[in-house]
Amino acid sequence: MKIVVSGTPGTGKSKFSKKLAKELKFKYLDIKTFSRKNKIYDKIEKNCLIIDEKKLVKELKKLKGNYVIDGHLSHYLKADYCVVCKCDLKVLKKRLEKRKYSKQKIKDNLDAEIFDVCFIDAKKIQKNVLVLDTSKGYKMEGIVRLIK
Ligand SMILES: Nc1ncnc2c1ncn2[C@@H]1O[C@H](COP(=O)(O)OP(=O)(O)O)[C@@H](O)[C@H]1O
Ligand SMILES: [Mg+2]
Repeated sequence: MKIVVSGTPGTGKSKFSKKLAKELKFKYLDIKTFSRKNKIYDKIEKNCLIIDEKKLVKELKKLKGNYVIDGHLSHYLKADYCVVCKCDLKVLKKRLEKRKYSKQKIKDNLDAEIFDVCFIDAKKIQKNVLVLDTSKGYKMEGIVRLIK
């Protein structure tokens, strides 16, 4: 089984994915590390990998077994479940400031969250989309029960 966890940067994908993988005893896969290892990126700009989604999906499809896949492009892989992490905008702004992102990068990410980019894209591709607001807290047991 594959579970993809998507969402705007800072919405809590990594924290949630790692916990979920632990609970379900699935492997955890971070797209950034995976893309570096498998050279799936076209170029590196301002320390960001510019990833080709088609190449990424092709490589992810080769994985066998149970995985929780963490990344804002993960929803391009058709999975058993897709979790989209969401976050209150004020909270998200604070989280991104903590990361010392530039004003422009913070604005771009807040815009992506406002326009629900990951969710809208995910809905076009996935059959089971779950939305999780990490600024409101969540109970892992409930989510695990739903997926199992
Ligand atoms: N449920 C949560 N409650 C409180 N803080 C959270 C929660 N989820 C994530 N965070 C915090 O928000 C920041 C970004 O989380 P992270 O998982 O790295 O996001 P992403 O992987 O989507 O970029 C981290 O500082 C993390 O500790
Ligand atoms: Mg992350």
